[in-house]
Amino acid sequence: MQDAGFVWNAEELDAFIESPRKHVRGTNMSYPGERRPEKRAAIIEYLTQLSTAD
Ligand code: HEM
Repeated sequence: MQDAGFVWNAEELDAFIESPRKHVRGTNMSYPGERRPEKRAAIIEYLTQLSTAD
């Protein structure tokens, strides 16, 4: 994860949860990914509500 070479933002998170192991090779995250864009958008919207980051 530290070597992934990007800063997290909504676009990176979207690509990551679509296919964690494709987006960050070698990740231990065993979640297989969410193919449906509307589900990923809902997850990201929810996390954005909880986020204290700008
Ligand atoms: C859609 C739901 C999920 C989201 C949005 C999500 C998000 C993330 C993110 C952003 C990271 C990277 C954290 C960092 O770089 O510090 C991460 C890592 C990780 N996640 Fe998830 N995750 C989800 C579901 C899951 C599930 C269901 C599991 C367990 C089955 C899981 C297990 C892990 C593990 C073990 C890591 C560490 C991977 C590593 O260091 O190689 N995640 N997750």
